[in-house]
Amino acid sequence: MSDPQTRKEQSRTRITKLVFPHDANPIGTLYGGTAMHWMDEVAFLTATRYSRRQVVTVSMDRVDFKVPIPEGSIVELVGEVTGTGRTSMTVQVRILIEDAMAGTQELAIEGSLVMVAVDETMKPVALSGSQE
Ligand SMILES: CC(C)(COP(=O)(O)OP(=O)(O)OC[C@H]1O[C@@H](n2cnc3c(N)ncnc32)[C@H](O)[C@@H]1OP(=O)(O)O)[C@@H](O)C(=O)NCCC(=O)NCCS
Repeated sequence: MSDPQTRKEQSRTRITKLVFPHDANPIGTLYGGTAMHWMDEVAFLTATRYSRRQVVTVSMDRVDFKVPIPEGSIVELVGEVTGTGRTSMTVQVRILIEDAMAGTQELAIEGSLVMVAVDETMKPVALSGSQE
């Protein structure tokens, strides 16, 4: 397996979504629970790619909702491993809102999640390259 820095770069994960009406709250902007669902999904993919293990979410840290995201928006989620322990990975997730005509992006939501590599019995397992 490649070194941790290369794995961090290679595991960076981007998902593009269109915000449909069923993703929105009654005032027509992205529902916070939907945003957190998407954040968990991108964190799961990022941590899986980093560790090449089965992973579970153990913690979702503070999530900042900076800008409302109207339905019909294009958003991009970006997941990056920003720290690792023996069995855990901290994944920072950002949701960027895209101006479809201008092609620019603005940070709308960010937060971080801790994901743990586990074996088939749900026991935490050491990440490759960590201090065993
Ligand atoms: C994830 C789980 C296996 C960890 O078990 P545990 O007994 O806490 O294991 P440990 O104490 O050895 O901790 C494992 C790692 O998680 C980290 N951790 C545990 N609880 C944490 C928390 N609340 N916040 C941040 N990190 C945490 C520990 O620091 C440790 O990291 P390290 O090995 O890098 O130092 C267990 O808590 C679990 O099964 N949780 C439910 C997971 C789940 O169902 N998620 C939702 C679906 S994906």
